[in-house]
Amino acid sequence: MARKKIIAGNWKMNMTPSEAVELINTLKPLVETDEADVVFCVPAIDIIPALEAAKGSNIQIGAENMYFEEKGAYTGEISPAMLTDVGVKYVIIGHSERREYFAETNETVNKKVLKAFEHGITPIVCCGETLTQREQGVTMDFIRQQVKIAFLGVTAEQAKTAVIAYEPIWAIGTGKTATTEQAQEVCGGIRKCIAEIYDEATAEAIRIQYGGSVNAKTAPELFVQPDIDGGLVGGAALKPDFGKIVNWK
Ligand code: G3H
Repeated sequence: MARKKIIAGNWKMNMTPSEAVELINTLKPLVETDEADVVFCVPAIDIIPALEAAKGSNIQIGAENMYFEEKGAYTGEISPAMLTDVGVKYVIIGHSERREYFAETNETVNKKVLKAFEHGITPIVCCGETLTQREQGVTMDFIRQQVKIAFLGVTAEQAKTAVIAYEPIWAIGTGKTATTEQAQEVCGGIRKCIAEIYDEATAEAIRIQYGGSVNAKTAPELFVQPDIDGGLVGGAALKPDFGKIVNWK
């Protein structure tokens, strides 16, 4: 069965709650489609107003992060139950910015992925190499390690519903999109890695996004690639252009 595309915006630390409502109201008519799942991953404080604003539309609201414990003395963290209680279905896990600025490791990513599944939240698991790693020729080794550790203990049935976002760090927010060949090569490599960990059926089912300076111009050539099932979009998700990315065909 053909995989349904999933096009997600990662708002990062942008948009106050009132700006979030305004943006969703602007984007709502532009992102209408039956052909892709459309997810807006928004800052924690925006989640509730965003859910309210998105009501009646095809927009699903996701979180940008969550903690791997159930509850307790973890000042400043958001628990999975807090997300599910308000109706959040997706969470970004292990974005490179979280790994770089907030000390996330493959191990904490794995704990969060397991916890998300435990609560029925779909994780969008991020991976991606630095420019140095690409130049050293170790891109796929590095990403395979990230993916293998992120999925430790995850069952095949769970993995089939997961989303992996391949985001080369050198392409994030730089205006440098990976070439379609580079993006397809790594997304195909990730699918192979999933087939090795699980089986062909799981590899065929899992959705793999590309992220890194995706815009309305580059989206069509990226999304047509056989192993690219959509995008995780940063900057362009905050603009009306996101509508063109969602309706890329
Ligand atoms: O999660 C999204 C990525 O970090 C991509 O961000 O589209 O601004 O390059 P960008």
